[in-house]
Amino acid sequence: MTAAKQIFLSPPHMNGRERLYVDKAFESGWITTVGPQIEAFESALAERVGVKYAVGLSSGTAALHLAIRALEINRGEEVYCSTLTFSASANPIVYEGGRPVFIDSDRSSWNMDPNLLDRELRRAARRGKLPRAVITVDLYGQCADLEAIRESCARYEVPLIEDAAEALGATYRGRSAGSFGWGNVFSFNGNKIITTSGGGMLATDDARLAETARLLSTQARDPAPHYQHSRIGYNYRLSNILAAIGLAQLETLDRLVAARRRNFEQYRKALGSVDGVEFMPEASYGRSSRWLTCLLIDPARFGATREDVRLRLASKKIEARPVWKPMHLQPVFARCRAVGGDVSEDLFARGLCLPSGSNLTESDLRRVVGEFLAARR
Ligand SMILES: Cc1ncc(COP(=O)(O)O)c(C=O)c1O
Repeated sequence: MTAAKQIFLSPPHMNGRERLYVDKAFESGWITTVGPQIEAFESALAERVGVKYAVGLSSGTAALHLAIRALEINRGEEVYCSTLTFSASANPIVYEGGRPVFIDSDRSSWNMDPNLLDRELRRAARRGKLPRAVITVDLYGQCADLEAIRESCARYEVPLIEDAAEALGATYRGRSAGSFGWGNVFSFNGNKIITTSGGGMLATDDARLAETARLLSTQARDPAPHYQHSRIGYNYRLSNILAAIGLAQLETLDRLVAARRRNFEQYRKALGSVDGVEFMPEASYGRSSRWLTCLLIDPARFGATREDVRLRLASKKIEARPVWKPMHLQPVFARCRAVGGDVSEDLFARGLCLPSGSNLTESDLRRVVGEFLAARR
């Protein structure tokens, strides 16, 4: 008998002209952080998402960092951020000396609760202590309630940063994720819906933000023939070779989203009527890319906890992952303020992300479902 193969949570899926474009990049001689593939990838992404500018960067974290850097915040100033997310959403606030304030999720989308945000902004305005920015996350491929959040931010003139790292290909009322903020962030790390192995993009309609991001990502060189610097810069630019991979991946985005949505539907068919299993809802305003298929387990009804299931899957070489541990529960952010927290705490306690790669086969899926059910006592 052959040993069962490992099933990963969300592995890379090369399914187009990646090699061809990498070859072209080699032929062009641009084996560096400048070149035609970067320009083409930036234009293609900007067009796909519907923004004026896109700046290719070494990671999604770098994109978030540059957006926050561009705001020139002062030490101790607050930036609001979704609590239910990966730490990369919040870390750049701290790089810049800001203080994160974590906002809880709503149950209908698992994303930042727009009512809580609005209430908090109103209170902050009364105190004369508005945050310098709001970072809202489109979790697991599903948009937050972006119009409501944007309206609240606009009312108080607080810039909105949309962390769409997980949501390329998703839409909100027909419009692309990653086009609602003043700054919008995508990630192309190895587990994202499209990957360049590592990489990110800052997308925006603001020419000044795009220009600042380009400048700061290339060590902030002044326009002078000698190397002169008036600001502190970073080495954050995307490589031209990696952009070639991204360009080919982007061409296949619709196929990749369709495969992930199909995974979700298959899981729901197999597990949706099992007592104690509840899938992440799709909010009525949008279409999720279903980057990851996530569900909640009620241990009393299902007969096993989230951890029982995860460990059972791990013992069978199937990678599953708890839903993000909220930022307000993280030791590193223990001293930060949180607004609410019960919803995200519950989602974390009971939530599991199942293998969701766009290259998951029918037989992989059946194996996951079989082991999932076998975890019951
Ligand atoms: C919500 C979110 N924000 C930011 C990031 C950071 O992206 P990167 O890994 O490209 O730095 C990620 C993924 O890693 C993410 O899931």
